[in-house]
Amino acid sequence: MSGRANPTLVDTHAHLDFAQFDADREQVLARAWAAGLVAIVNAGADLPSSRAGVELSARHERVFAAVGVHPHDARDLTAEALAELETLARAPKVVAIGEIGLDFYRDLSPRPTQRASFEAQLALAARLRKPVIVHDRDAHGEIMGILREWAGTSPLAERGVLHCFSGSLEMALEAVELGFLISIAGPITYANARKLPEIAAALPLDKLLIETDCPYLAPHPHRGQRNEPAYVALVAEAVARARGIPVAEVARATTANAARLFGLGKRP
Ligand code: NI
Repeated sequence: MSGRANPTLVDTHAHLDFAQFDADREQVLARAWAAGLVAIVNAGADLPSSRAGVELSARHERVFAAVGVHPHDARDLTAEALAELETLARAPKVVAIGEIGLDFYRDLSPRPTQRASFEAQLALAARLRKPVIVHDRDAHGEIMGILREWAGTSPLAERGVLHCFSGSLEMALEAVELGFLISIAGPITYANARKLPEIAAALPLDKLLIETDCPYLAPHPHRGQRNEPAYVALVAEAVARARGIPVAEVARATTANAARLFGLGKRP
């Protein structure tokens, strides 16, 4: 990595509120800024985590928050919880609703409950004119079916992002058609990665975001350890290698894409 010459980067998906960062959160943030990050979007996993993300964004100028209930906790999205989510979503630095979606890999909430929770939060996002951060694990067909129906109800031209993308190139291209960006995470750096470099190379550069999903999915050579926002630089390098272009170009484009999707430059 090229040190201080690093161009600006945005980690569009982090879980800095998680307990894994309790001991050294400030140092983790300091390393992120030192690595050239200009913004981090903290994704909400449930209501307490969404609250914590909003608080974190109030304390740190370059931290923004998404609020939402993850499919694992879909059963917790009661009417009261949805009302609180809406209140949280109106906080000044909340830039998206997320992460929301379907997880048919772990199936921690019943699938009909996951669908209902996802659809209720998509409707909230459309009503509040916010983009969404979508989690999709082993639910590609169903996710696309729901997004196809929902897309026309969002007033935004760019409606959200499929985070930590794991689908096919065909799916990515259809999502782009529907007004979504595609976010690439650490797995693109793994030795056995085939599909992700191909997707990162094939999509228009103005449709790509990069993220860590920290504390999970640390990129090579940190695989298996705790991940942190500074490592998003390794994802940018992998995207640059896949496309055969300078990392500075990837950094510039993905930072501009994040700023545009999440409105990072125009907060009150
Ligand atoms: Ni996540």
